[in-house]
Amino acid sequence: MQIRAASDMFSQVDADAIILGTYEDNPLSESVAEMDQSTAGLLAQLVESKELTGKPSELVPLLGPAGIQSRQVLIVGLGKRDQLDSKTSFRAVGAAARHLAAHPRKRVAMFMDADWTAELWEAAIVGACVGSQGQDLYRSEKKRHPFAELLVADAPDHVLQTASTLGESVNLARQLVNEPAAEIYPESFAERASQVADECGLEIEVWDEKRLAAERCGALLAVARGSTRPPRLVILRYRGSSGGAQDPSLALVGKGVTFDSGGLSLKPSEGMLAMKCDMAGAATVLAAVQAIAQLELPLHVIGILGLVENMVSGDSYKLGDVLTARSGKTIEVHNTDAEGRLVLADALHVAIEQKPARIIDLATLTGACVVALGNDVVGAMSNDQAWCDQVVQAAGQCGEPIWQLPMFAEYGDEILSEVADIKNVGGGRWGGAITAAKLLEAFVDETPWVHLDIAGPSFLEKAKPWSDGGGTGVMVRTLVEVARYFRA
Ligand code: BES
Ligand code: MN
Ligand code: ZN
Repeated sequence: MQIRAASDMFSQVDADAIILGTYEDNPLSESVAEMDQSTAGLLAQLVESKELTGKPSELVPLLGPAGIQSRQVLIVGLGKRDQLDSKTSFRAVGAAARHLAAHPRKRVAMFMDADWTAELWEAAIVGACVGSQGQDLYRSEKKRHPFAELLVADAPDHVLQTASTLGESVNLARQLVNEPAAEIYPESFAERASQVADECGLEIEVWDEKRLAAERCGALLAVARGSTRPPRLVILRYRGSSGGAQDPSLALVGKGVTFDSGGLSLKPSEGMLAMKCDMAGAATVLAAVQAIAQLELPLHVIGILGLVENMVSGDSYKLGDVLTARSGKTIEVHNTDAEGRLVLADALHVAIEQKPARIIDLATLTGACVVALGNDVVGAMSNDQAWCDQVVQAAGQCGEPIWQLPMFAEYGDEILSEVADIKNVGGGRWGGAITAAKLLEAFVDETPWVHLDIAGPSFLEKAKPWSDGGGTGVMVRTLVEVARYFRA
């Protein structure tokens, strides 16, 4: 989707459709009032009959309104002006774009407010990118048709650039998640990462199964053993720091289980259907590093993707096995479906060897986090409150819901093992998001670290008004926001 500035006035723009924002405290805003005049009071009537209220994400389509060049105006509610934030603008414009994308359109224009902050514009434009892109990669007749062109009135040019980069990265993460496991497996994922690296001038290293063995990645390799698809570990590097800092400022680490059958602790069919999404953490990291590089942000970032498939075979890792992770710590396997933490144990260890100032890992790690917070909220767990505050604040800026869970030392007792240093599940099923995070914590040493459990929000079982179902690209914008305001 080509995004550029609209140079014409509202009534003069020649577009297939215009998305026009309006507020609940003033639904007859400037451009709406203009249309009201040329349509002999139609809009005042709609307000009177409460069909036009300006409530968040309300859509009122006007087909062929008089006095307007464009063939359609879609009025979208933005709620109360003083409550408007990036979440509301993302969702409202996303809903409008999703509505319009039901049919192919060459040019869609967007008229909001000249006094919007860059933050609101960005969220709105990314909303349009997400809303107009569906999950029907493999449908013969598509349900969504991204617009050829999006014209945006009144937003500064640099914001259009930034937002368009962010929109593309969010959609990259979504598309990678939406691809089935037959398309995206460790090798093919690593190839996609190489393409992105080529396009954005990133350094990339791909470890195959031989290298992984030489690097003693015993935990990751154990998970991979049941699959005919060999594992990969990808290290991406973007050197944006002007000062030539040798050590990275920020390490982003992603769980990339391209399919999670559960292994010998096999999942039931219902629980397995969506498990192509189990590489969402790795997709988020790849997409965020892509955006950070394209925006030329002034910091040194590494991205680490732990890519495996968790399958069943005569060679699968077994319950009771004791694995030696790359750090030398031993892990007793109590459940082969708790595989993500094993992959991350080694990936995190590779990360800290690079001496990053800060780490964030992203993983569709536990159903327990979805039980705790629901489908729409990311769980944050950390060993460093100041760093966690930075990440949570960035998510708030972007309007991506997040909530911190506690990491009291007692949770760590749950994963002590009788035969090894630790075991890969807690004693009972309670507090499962946190006992999983406690295992990860054992592999980051003293480095300030935040773990983001995205099991719920990374994948929509059902569509939302602002997005089709499937991958959501959640946290891509937050990671870029963290990188923008990074303070070590
Ligand atoms: N990939 C799953 C977690 C998951 C669940 C992601 C639902 C997305 C939606 C993870 O590998 C897993 O299976 N976790 C187990 C851990 C348990 C065996 C301790 C779980 O949550 O049930
Ligand atoms: Mn699992
Ligand atoms: Zn998993």
